[in-house]
Amino acid sequence: MLRCFEKASRYGRNRSSGTTGRIMSLFVLRIRRDMMFATTHAGGIPHMTIEVDQWRSIMGRFVTGVNVVTTVDKNGNPVGLTANAFSSVSLEPPLLLICADRKSETLKSLLGTKRFCVNILCEEQDLLARTFASKTADKFLDVPYHMGTFGMPILDGCIASVEVELVESYEVADHYILVGRGLMLHNDGALPTMPLAFFSGRFHKLSA
Ligand SMILES: Cc1cc2nc3c(=O)[nH]c(=O)nc-3n(C[C@H](O)[C@H](O)[C@H](O)COP(=O)(O)O)c2cc1C
Repeated sequence: MLRCFEKASRYGRNRSSGTTGRIMSLFVLRIRRDMMFATTHAGGIPHMTIEVDQWRSIMGRFVTGVNVVTTVDKNGNPVGLTANAFSSVSLEPPLLLICADRKSETLKSLLGTKRFCVNILCEEQDLLARTFASKTADKFLDVPYHMGTFGMPILDGCIASVEVELVESYEVADHYILVGRGLMLHNDGALPTMPLAFFSGRFHKLSA
């Protein structure tokens, strides 16, 4: 490929006249354009080189809600992290998924306890989202919560909370996909307030 490119480049520089020259010039331009943003991964499929920040920025253009995923560690202490990588998976049975960075401290407890709670935050809870997105030792200090039917921490004032049992976990690159089956729904009555939204790296209020 490289030898072909070099050969074609020479044609491009010499600007050969006639049809062959023009075809080769077009060929060179196309290769130069492709080489500007293409690379090849192990499977041999050419693709754009995507930096982490670019990927985060583009993924951040998908507006999401914000959750705090809670569980307990091996000593029974509540732990949790802010997570917007969340989706409903199935209605029958009731399944959902979250994605957790393999560097997350909470992940160990999620995999160990095999139960967790997805707390969907309301728009007044952006500070809570920041707290649980930090590496603070005791994120639950001054956070009102109670234990749910299945022993998972339910944060007070959320728009809804779902206790789940872990049914599948998939290690995918630098994250884990955790699939949970619904055990208990909390606050499933009338919406107390609007949800907190996350878009383009910032928290937003839908009602504002
Ligand atoms: C809005 C928002 C969404 C986030 N979503 C996720 C997510 O889906 N998965 C994840 O692993 N981390 C996510 N994070 C980052 C974690 O909350 C952060 O790394 C946290 O410090 C992990 O805490 P831990 O190491 O105590 O588990 C998110 C952060 C913010 C602010």
